[in-house]
Amino acid sequence: MNIQSAINLEDIRQLARRKLPRIAFDFIDGGVDDELCLKRNREAFEKYRLLPRYLRDVSKRDQSVVLFGRTYASPIGISPTGLAGLWRPDADLMQAAAARDANVPFLLSSAANASLEDGMRVAPEHIWFQMYCTSDERINADLVQRAVKAQVGVLVISVDVPVNSNRERNRRNGFSRPLRMTPGVILNAMGHPAWVLRYLRTGGIPMMRNWKPYAPPGATAGQVADMYGTLTPAPMVNWEHMRRIRDAWQGPMVIKGLMHPDDAREAARIGVNGLVVSNHGGRQLDVAPSPLEMLPAIRAAVGNQVELILDSGVRRGSDVVMARCLGARAAIFGRPPLYGVAAAGQPGVARVLQIMRNEIDMVLAQIGCRAFEELDASYLWTGAPRAADSGSSTCEKPMP
Ligand SMILES: Cc1cc2nc3c(=O)[nH]c(=O)nc-3n(C[C@H](O)[C@H](O)[C@H](O)COP(=O)(O)O)c2cc1C
Repeated sequence: MNIQSAINLEDIRQLARRKLPRIAFDFIDGGVDDELCLKRNREAFEKYRLLPRYLRDVSKRDQSVVLFGRTYASPIGISPTGLAGLWRPDADLMQAAAARDANVPFLLSSAANASLEDGMRVAPEHIWFQMYCTSDERINADLVQRAVKAQVGVLVISVDVPVNSNRERNRRNGFSRPLRMTPGVILNAMGHPAWVLRYLRTGGIPMMRNWKPYAPPGATAGQVADMYGTLTPAPMVNWEHMRRIRDAWQGPMVIKGLMHPDDAREAARIGVNGLVVSNHGGRQLDVAPSPLEMLPAIRAAVGNQVELILDSGVRRGSDVVMARCLGARAAIFGRPPLYGVAAAGQPGVARVLQIMRNEIDMVLAQIGCRAFEELDASYLWTGAPRAADSGSSTCEKPMP
C-alpha cells in the first residue's frame, strides 16, 4: 500500500506506523493512563445514527463553511501539534501547504518547529496561530503582538494543559530528550534508519522556532527546548490571562480545550469568538468526557454567540456531519494529518484531507442534504421513535 492507494485514515495510520520507530509512532498515537479517553472519543460517535432522507435532488452538494467571516472549502481543519519536525523535517510547513491547497485552516502550534512567521509565508490565508500561555507575561504579550504583526487570521489559546500528563507509552518507551537509547529502542530504530539519521543530524530535537527569539543568541535547539520546558506548562494561567489577550487582540479569538458549559459561558461573556471543544485527543485527562458528548450542552450554554469547532477522535466524514448536527460548525483533527506527513510528506496530508472531503460529500448525498451548512439535528436518529413523536425522530433540539 502507498499513500494514494490508502482508502481511509486507518490505512494512513498503518503507513505511518511502518515509517516511524515505535518510540515516535507511540508519541503521536498514545493517550494517557489507561487510554480510556482515547477510546471514548471514538465510541462517542458510535452512539449516534444519521437518518437518511431520500427523493431529494442531491446531484449538487456543497460542503463549504464560513468560519470567522472566511469561506473554507470543507468543514475540517488541521489541529495544532507540537514538535512535528520530529516526524519529518518541515512537517509544519508541509501541513500548512496542504491546508492552503485544500482551502482549510491549519492551526499552527506555538510548540511547532516552524515559526508562525514561516507558516504565514506558506499559507497566509489559512494559518490560525495556536499558543499556550507561559509563565512569563512579557512573552505571552509578545506572541500576541507577533500574531498581530504577521496578520494571522485567528488566534487560538489552548488552555487544557495546566500540567504535563501521564503518557505511559512515552514513559515505557523512554521518550525523553535525548531519547533514552535502551536496547529495545535501538533494536526497533534499526528498522527505520532514515528516521534515526535525521534524528541524530538535528541533535535530538529540531529547533522550536517560535521560541528562539526568547533564548540567548546562538542557543541550540536543545537549549531552546529546555527554556520552553521551564515556561510551559503554566498552571497559574487563569481568566485574567484570557481577558488580557482579548484586550490586546482585535481579531477572532478562540479558546481550545474548554469542556464545561459554565466555562464556555464565561468565554462568551469576555468576548471570545470561538471554542475548540476538545479533550486534547485524550492526551490530558483520561476520565474526561468526549467533546462530542459535551457539544449539545455547550451549544445550549453559548447560543449562537460563539462558533464551536469539535476536535478529538474525528476519523470519518460522518463524524464531521454528526458534529455539525450536534451543534459544531466544523471539526478538526490532529493525529491523521501527522500520520499523513510522517507517511508521505505533503502529499500524505493532502490525501488525508481528500479522503475526509470525499467521505463528507458521500454522507451528505446519502442523507439527502445538499449543503453542509443546512445540517441540523433533524438528521440525527438516536433511538426508536416514541408513539407521541410526530414525524421527526430526533432527540436533540435543532441547532439554531
Ligand atoms: C503529537 C501531538 C502533539 C500535539 N500538540 C499540541 C499542541 O502543541 N497544541 C495543542 O493545542 N494541542 C496539541 N495536540 C492536541 C491536538 O491539537 C488535538 O487536540 C488532538 O490531536 C485531537 O485529537 P485527534 O488526534 O484524535 O484528532 C497535540 C496532539 C498530538 C497527537
